Amino acid sequence: MFDLDQFIADYNTAVRADRSHKLVREVVARAVSDPTAVIAGLGEPRRAEVQKLYNSPELTILNVIWGPLMTILPHNHLMWAVSGVYTGREDNIFWRRIQENTGAKVEAASAKSLGERDAEPLGCDIIHSVTNPLSRVTGAIHVYGGDFFSVSRSEWDPETLLERNYDMEKNLRLFEAANLAYANL
Ligand SMILES: [Fe+2]
Repeated sequence: MFDLDQFIADYNTAVRADRSHKLVREVVARAVSDPTAVIAGLGEPRRAEVQKLYNSPELTILNVIWGPLMTILPHNHLMWAVSGVYTGREDNIFWRRIQENTGAKVEAASAKSLGERDAEPLGCDIIHSVTNPLSRVTGAIHVYGGDFFSVSRSEWDPETLLERNYDMEKNLRLFEAANLAYANL
């Protein structure tokens, strides 16, 4: 069964060996390699939500449960991250910054679809958007190399692709909105 204390101990061993998130990816990959164990430890994901499993200035561990067909806008983290999917699918678009006369925009650069048991490292400068393409919830363990909730970051308007301030409260409300939408499906 997934054990948070053991996971944090493994994380500490990993970052002591390598300050980057390379070995942390392996810790996350190991955890999500056994989805049944993760679900036994964290519970069956039933509704869209962000569960804070651990939060310190150096480390944030989240159980992110995406609602069906839910999308989160392009955003950055300004710290490294690792996403590991234990049920469902996360479709990532990776974006790069471009400067246009109209302002600081992004353009799509690449994409990666993460399925069950996949763990993906994201560098500090990464900008991504995430869609759950499924008509059921997707569950993922997200690990961040810092305090995810205290950093002032950016998101990009989905229509104009222009940069603006990331609104944490608004983004967390999207999960509740997804639950309402799901209830009405
Ligand atoms: Fe993200």
